[in-house]
Amino acid sequence: MKKDNRIFEILISNRQIKKGIKKTAKWLNKEYEGKTPVIIGILKGCIPFIGQISTLLNFDFELDFMSASSFKGGTKGSNDIQISLDLKTNIKGKDVIILEDIIDTARTLKKIIELLKNRNPSSIRLVTLLDKKEGRKVELDADYSCFTIPNKFIVGFGLDYKEIMRNYNFIGCLKPEYIEKERSNNL
Ligand code: IMP
Ligand code: MG
Repeated sequence: MKKDNRIFEILISNRQIKKGIKKTAKWLNKEYEGKTPVIIGILKGCIPFIGQISTLLNFDFELDFMSASSFKGGTKGSNDIQISLDLKTNIKGKDVIILEDIIDTARTLKKIIELLKNRNPSSIRLVTLLDKKEGRKVELDADYSCFTIPNKFIVGFGLDYKEIMRNYNFIGCLKPEYIEKERSNNL
């Protein structure tokens, strides 16, 4: 991937991401052998993660998506969580796996899980590519986290800064001066 001068450092390389996803797929293959769960991707950050992991899964599964956001496009979270796209699949009596790009405050997932539990699935498990444990504002643990990361704002492999930079094949930290410059341009 071409070097981007808005990136300060690469936190997780493409090679490391691939390795982490392989390990996660192995865990899922063991846990869901012989079952047909519904995998729910939380848009839009889950797209590269789902794209890569789905080709490594050996069991049958249905795939559906939800969209919710607690971020208003910048680097600060917000309390106001909106569900903007709901499932088409009826999950009653089914095993559900939520695939998320990152858990930070966990407010988004908490809300999604509450909503899904009311629909009486047989089980719900949460799998995340990245876990920013220090960012938690509500209590919630993933059943499987690929990588635990420090409390820094990151971009790439599905994660955005103001809707761009999702396309990097690595996960990197943005230069603080880039964010500052953006802020002053918007004043
Ligand atoms: P939570 O409700 O705070 O756990 O927010 C989760 C959502 O916030 C994720 O699905 C991301 O869209 C976004 N998010 C959290 N941390 C970051 C980050 O470091 N970079 C980009 N997006 C982030
Ligand atoms: Mg986002």
